[in-house]
Amino acid sequence: MIPADFTPKISSHDTLDSTNTKARELAAQGASEGTVVWARQQTQGRGRLKRAWHSPEGGLYLSVLLYPKDPRRLTDLSILTGVALAQAVKESLPKQVAVSVKWPNDCLLNWKKVGGILCESLGEEFFHLCVVGIGLNVNIPETELASFRNNPFSATSFQVATGAGHDVVKIRDRLLSKLFNMYRVYHQDGFPHVQYLWERNCEMIGKKVELRDSGWRDLPAGDTVGATVGTCLGIDEAGAIVLSNAKGERHTYHTGEITCFWP
Ligand code: BTN
Repeated sequence: MIPADFTPKISSHDTLDSTNTKARELAAQGASEGTVVWARQQTQGRGRLKRAWHSPEGGLYLSVLLYPKDPRRLTDLSILTGVALAQAVKESLPKQVAVSVKWPNDCLLNWKKVGGILCESLGEEFFHLCVVGIGLNVNIPETELASFRNNPFSATSFQVATGAGHDVVKIRDRLLSKLFNMYRVYHQDGFPHVQYLWERNCEMIGKKVELRDSGWRDLPAGDTVGATVGTCLGIDEAGAIVLSNAKGERHTYHTGEITCFWP
């Protein structure tokens, strides 16, 4: 459990291959819960679905060690981190920019991806040791964003969205405070409260979205397989996304990725 007045120990680095990899090493060596690894740039930043996370100077790259009561629910951690990330982004930017969580755990700014989360457990007998990695495009110019285009939602940054530079350390500390706070909410009130906050921060609820599964591919003549279109109803008590189809039937999906939406 992380106490309310908690000040994290931050292991700071100019360059790392990946803060998640470093955090895993520290966890294996017995580092305490709440330890943070922060790097100004990464040479081998990792994203979900085995994608690379382009990590030039100017972005925020950090990993936090969390040792939850029930590590079988790794999804809870990534959902609660998504809420903390959206809260920190909202608080750091002018009110007129649209900020939303995107299932499972991205953060969108003006409907483009600005941040992502990679939660990993150390596995085997250490599966209770979890690493929560967060990447946020802060002072990343348009030219660098081209390298993010392997993500289905095109990318943006604080700098591109506002035309100004931002204080990365201030945003880091705000994000950590939101994250530890959400983690306390999770321990005290359980996942239902996190679920409620996630839905409040999700601008896609009630809108038509496309969910792609891992078997998604293009077919000749412009058809595709592995995609489902439906109205986003929210998430369930396991953190899975709930969509309704054209007949109004509810379906729950535990894996996949929202790739498109219609406002
Ligand atoms: C995604 O959206 O695919 C998740 C991206 C997560 C990137 C962060 S940057 C800090 C941490 N270290 C990594 O190697 N990955 C995560």
